[in-house]
Amino acid sequence: MREKAYAPYSNYEVGAAVETDTGEIIGGCNVESSSYGLTCCAERTALFRAISEGHRKFTSLAVSTENGGMPCGACRQVIWDLCKDITVHICDKDKLLKTIHASDLLPDAFDETFLK
Ligand code: THU
Repeated sequence: MREKAYAPYSNYEVGAAVETDTGEIIGGCNVESSSYGLTCCAERTALFRAISEGHRKFTSLAVSTENGGMPCGACRQVIWDLCKDITVHICDKDKLLKTIHASDLLPDAFDETFLK
């Protein structure tokens, strides 16, 4: 998925893939905008794509960058909202660097339980 990244401004290419409870793997890449704040990260592209295709339960997420970059704050919130405490694999361009959980990325998360 990194090869599909549209990152002409940062040149920082990111790929992500989410695994569904039915064993499907759905990918996404970062898609940048000339109005930088409108950029969508690879993690959110993959998750929004999966949701759009009707998936609702996820078991793991993998993220790949050149140098092992970690998910940004916005993606941490969206991962928690849509996936709760799934396994997250962090990779660089060659290999798996570490495996963590969404709760490690966003401790004491805000979520829908506060809205009820
Ligand atoms: N990026 C991601 O795709 N995921 C992250 O979690 C961090 C940042 C992208 C956004 C932007 O296109 C580029 O990396 C540089 O910030």
